Amino acid sequence: MTVHSFQEHFDKKIDGDVAIEPRDWMPDDYRKTLIRQISQHAHSEIVGMLPEGNWISRAPSLRRKAVLLAKVQDEAGHGLYLYSAAETLGITRDELYEQLHSGKAKYSSIFNYPTLTWADMGAIGWLVDGAAIMNQVPLCRCSYGPYARAMVRVCKEESFHQRQGYEIMLTLANGAPMQKKMAQDALDRWWWPSLMMFGPPDAESGNTEQSMRWRIKRLTNDELRQKFIDVTVEQANILGLTIPDKDLKWNEERGHYDSGAINWDEFWNVVKGNGPCNKQRLDTRKKAWADGQWVRDAAMAHAEKRKARKATAKAA
Ligand code: 3HC
Repeated sequence: MTVHSFQEHFDKKIDGDVAIEPRDWMPDDYRKTLIRQISQHAHSEIVGMLPEGNWISRAPSLRRKAVLLAKVQDEAGHGLYLYSAAETLGITRDELYEQLHSGKAKYSSIFNYPTLTWADMGAIGWLVDGAAIMNQVPLCRCSYGPYARAMVRVCKEESFHQRQGYEIMLTLANGAPMQKKMAQDALDRWWWPSLMMFGPPDAESGNTEQSMRWRIKRLTNDELRQKFIDVTVEQANILGLTIPDKDLKWNEERGHYDSGAINWDEFWNVVKGNGPCNKQRLDTRKKAWADGQWVRDAAMAHAEKRKARKATAKAA
């Protein structure tokens, strides 16, 4: 088969919505952009544990602590699924970690904001996991098999994450005036960074057009952002909270909400590493990696010993 016919076969599978699997031929650029997106998705899950981890020991009740613990543990699992999906494309786990720890790889800008009050746990579950679901459901139909299958499991758990966050916001919004104020303050701080999670405007997105053609993306950044706004504004109304966007208004003609301008300078500034918590997040990740070296060494030593024992038993 010539490269030309490999390409033809690949194109036919993409056009026919047939999943591309690890052993299939794929264009180098398709492989590269999947490694880029899946690894950054995985990094986001792992770094995303840190802002919420900050509140596990301060949760207001045993139930809230147990729910938050379960959620943060889920995020670790999501990271591992996604690192495994990235490894099927020929990159090693160590390379992935090295790219994160050296600052070469990105992770979602949203996790570079501080979690100042308990209400932030509600806002993150409701808005950040809500945005993640909006973005991840179409990824269940991504053309790359391992990524799409990882997303099916992730999305099931993500719905629990969003529900528990919304429940925290509902409790606070229906609580004492001070609690409702705390919930509104959290919404004020997390609304705009949550909209930025969907990426830059389509016109400035260097990857969207090709990713749509390869059916990695099924909806563009702006389309997903709009869907998220339309759904979330209604949820805020039920909470009795105000979306911090004075230009937000329903547009009957469009059948969508029109919203105010997003501060893309702030977005790119955070993506470039100048957000409120970028340094703290990476330092924490690198310390955790260094502190865990003995666990990795012990696991390797144990694996080597087991392998040697098996070999001896086989030889006997
Ligand atoms: N934070 C950091 N970088 C971002 C970003 C964000 N919110 N949005 C876009 N970027 C980067 C892109 O990575 C790209 O840089 P690169 O080419 O060096 O990778 C550049 O900005 C231009 O953006 P594009 O729109 O061209 O990039 P993509 O086509 O990759 O679209 C995306 C960006 C929509 C985030 C896409 O990568 C995607 O859908 N990724 C999978 C989902 C994901 O990673 N979500 C992150 C949150 S995970 C999460 O919230 C977990 C939950 O459990 C809490």
